[in-house]
Amino acid sequence: MQLQIKHIKEFIDDSYTIFIIDNITSIKQLNLSKDDADYIKDQLSEKNYLIETKSYSNQKTIVWIDKESKKSRAEYLREKGSYISDTLNKTKTENIGIVNFCDNPSLSKYITEGICLSQYKFDKYQTKNKKPLSLKQITIYSDIITNNELNEITTLTESVFWARNMVNEPVNNLNAELLAEQIREKGEEAGFSCNILTKKKIESLKMGGLLAVNKGSIDPPTFSVLEYKPDNHTNSQPIILVGKGVTYDTGGLSLKTAAHMDGMKSDMGGAATVAATIKAIAKNKLPIHVIGLIPATDNRPSGNAYTPGDVITMHNGSTVEVLNTDAEGRLILADAISYAKRYNPAIIISVATLTGSAANAIGPHATVAMGNIDNTIFDKLKNSGEEVHERVVEFPFWDDYNELLKSEIADLKNLGGDYGGAITAGKFLEHFTTFPFLHLDIAGVAYLTKKDKYRPSGGTGIGVRLLYNFIKNF
Ligand code: BES
Ligand code: ZN
Ligand code: ZN
Repeated sequence: MQLQIKHIKEFIDDSYTIFIIDNITSIKQLNLSKDDADYIKDQLSEKNYLIETKSYSNQKTIVWIDKESKKSRAEYLREKGSYISDTLNKTKTENIGIVNFCDNPSLSKYITEGICLSQYKFDKYQTKNKKPLSLKQITIYSDIITNNELNEITTLTESVFWARNMVNEPVNNLNAELLAEQIREKGEEAGFSCNILTKKKIESLKMGGLLAVNKGSIDPPTFSVLEYKPDNHTNSQPIILVGKGVTYDTGGLSLKTAAHMDGMKSDMGGAATVAATIKAIAKNKLPIHVIGLIPATDNRPSGNAYTPGDVITMHNGSTVEVLNTDAEGRLILADAISYAKRYNPAIIISVATLTGSAANAIGPHATVAMGNIDNTIFDKLKNSGEEVHERVVEFPFWDDYNELLKSEIADLKNLGGDYGGAITAGKFLEHFTTFPFLHLDIAGVAYLTKKDKYRPSGGTGIGVRLLYNFIKNF
């Protein structure tokens, strides 16, 4: 990110300034021309709460706090930040300042976050008419905000952008090996390790799920083990994040239709979230031991591809009847989840663009979550989701659904029944561990076809801020 954020005490009225205001008296302190003051009153009476004064130099933008808004204050301001960011790009503004007239000192942080998360573009493949983003610096005029808080915004934004970049990168430039290599490079820079297990090792570990899905590919699979273990870590058992790294999902022999295949370069969104979360944790030096497991391959039909009807033996020795090669995510994740046993984890969290069923159920507005963890931990997850506005919705996780995964000839089948597709996928994964298990299905949120405020079209990086916040408070 080229954007710098700093804070200084003394207000200098020399550039584009955003004022966060919740009462008329504060507006009077702005030394506005009568025209501008009248204009602002007009706009407020029309309930327009993002107001730009008309004077040409020293642009002032008022963000009025709508006390009746049902949104959280934080999200209200992030959204305003995203609208402001769009204007800044149009006017090619390079420097902005933020002044907060309200009691809550965090308000300028939220607006900054909204601006930062909006300052993203994936234009590396554009050879003509590239329009780089103009914004270079945000100055917050405050003596309460700390450098640490601002650094956290920067490192989180950078991690989210990295996740978006990985998701947006097409498979012709990001196969399993390139993904693993990229994670290792970022790890060196951020301070976490990445050990890449290659095909030989994966074979010797008998990861039958990952190997089966990889059979149709001309590229070898990888299994990356990321670790961040600072000396001052406070957890005796690590937190394990498992990310689905399907670099492209054609469905395999159970081939997807063209409409459903569109966008399937995003099927490594879980892997991107896991890697980027660990990067943010490492960069911000959270005192937590965390491990990431990323099984990666593409899923394609070919002369040697795995076929519906195959029975495969998984890393933990159990057998699975493959009834649909498009239900590949659970096969590669299951191997990673059973592999996690060796670390005696406090919790295993899987993150995956796992089912169309999850996306259909609630669309792009939230992550589908399920698991067998304590309610108190679930509540913490939901709170984190509300705080960063990466909301989670808990689905049932009753054993009744296991009925749908019974196979006549193997221990399990990889396909559920007529209902609850997101849940049966989660229940399938649960079979591969006895440790506390939480599963996040991000199929609906990882990739958007249309920009939504500070979430761009394409990869969103959703899950990074959620998991960072959740793990920080774990
Ligand atoms: N990668 C897909 C899930 C997906 C769908 C992600 C839409 C993002 C957007 C997954 O591998 C898949 O194809 N799942 C199948 C499972 C089914 C065959 C049991 C699905 O959801 O249709
Ligand atoms: Zn699939
Ligand atoms: Zn998939």
